Amino acid sequence: MSPVKMNNPFTPTFGSIPPLLAGREQIIRDILDGLDNAPGDPNRTTIFIGARGTGKTVLLAKLTEEASAQGWVSANVTAKEGLLKEILMQIKDNATDFITPDSLSRITGVEIVGFSISRSAVEEPERTWRSKLTALIKELNEQGIGLLITVDEVDAQCAPLRDVVDTYQHLVRERRNVALMMAGLPNNISQLLRDEKISFLRRAFQQRLDAVPKDEVAFALRKTVETAGRAINSKALELAAESTQGFPFMIQLVGYNIWRQNPQHKTISLEDTKHGVRLAENDMRRMIFDSTIHDLSEQDIRFLVTLARIGGESDTTQIAAAWGKNVNYTSKYRKRLLEQGIIGERMFGKIDFDIPLLGEYILERFPEF
Ligand SMILES: Nc1ncnc2c1ncn2[C@@H]1O[C@H](COP(=O)(O)OP(=O)(O)O)[C@@H](O)[C@H]1O
Ligand SMILES: [Mg+2]
Repeated sequence: MSPVKMNNPFTPTFGSIPPLLAGREQIIRDILDGLDNAPGDPNRTTIFIGARGTGKTVLLAKLTEEASAQGWVSANVTAKEGLLKEILMQIKDNATDFITPDSLSRITGVEIVGFSISRSAVEEPERTWRSKLTALIKELNEQGIGLLITVDEVDAQCAPLRDVVDTYQHLVRERRNVALMMAGLPNNISQLLRDEKISFLRRAFQQRLDAVPKDEVAFALRKTVETAGRAINSKALELAAESTQGFPFMIQLVGYNIWRQNPQHKTISLEDTKHGVRLAENDMRRMIFDSTIHDLSEQDIRFLVTLARIGGESDTTQIAAAWGKNVNYTSKYRKRLLEQGIIGERMFGKIDFDIPLLGEYILERFPEF
């Protein structure tokens, strides 16, 4: 049999949708049910929370794809300056078939630039962003089309994000056919939720993108390999799944590296897998950990070493005692690291790593601390 080289189906790049999203079936189903249901369904306002590499961006993209297959129009943005304008532009681009060009240019103001604005246009009081958005949504809703807004990389410091949430709250109250999905690092989300002015958001569904269960990882790896025309030995699959620790980015790194050992062989062997897993762990260090700890101070790292040695959720008193510092000093570093999304808050004031495998890496790299 002449060997045919198949393309590597894995996608170890931020933001690329993998052929199979491990462990997300239930979340996706809940949200699609919510879209299918009437306005007011709680799944229509959902916040995804997870560290770097847990699959937030990809999940928003997947939901957009699925929603659009159900006839929804979407506006997909990241939380930064120009957010409000970008939402209108996105609707303009994605809803050209449903919204009359006239009302689009009137509402988004896209065509009205330069010096040739007529007197009457100047005299017309400027419409607020909310009224522009509402007009577009009305036009869509009248045709039975809903609007999904996705906001990635939520940043509590981004002022226009409050306008989006505030307007959305009104739209929900008016029972418009809309949905809002947001995603961000744990600490950015908790900062946003602390804002009294948009306390409405606290009632949104929160989905933490925790580690994917091992059997779901194994299923996704095997299915991806088989769909791409190869097979994987069962011991190899077991090892591959185990070594990801359920971390989505690592699923792709492991899959990618075990595939490329002997791409001309029909079956991925245990040897290929052992070698591939080592490479994946190096990639994980290079692509996530090195850049994560590059920005940290020595004391930050000492804090993290202490947390890793304790080996799980811990509170400030525990860490201070193990570190040999006072609670005030320890709290200062706790706060710094929370802000950077490296650790995250758990119940009862405890914290833990928000990036799996990072604790082990830190212990290995700084054994002398
Ligand atoms: N559920 C999943 N199953 C398998 N791989 C995933 C899953 N979610 C994300 N990935 C992969 O993980 C990597 C990071 O995804 P991304 O959405 O960019 O993460 P985030 O936005 O949370 O930093 C990408 O390579 C993507 O293909
Ligand atoms: Mg992202």
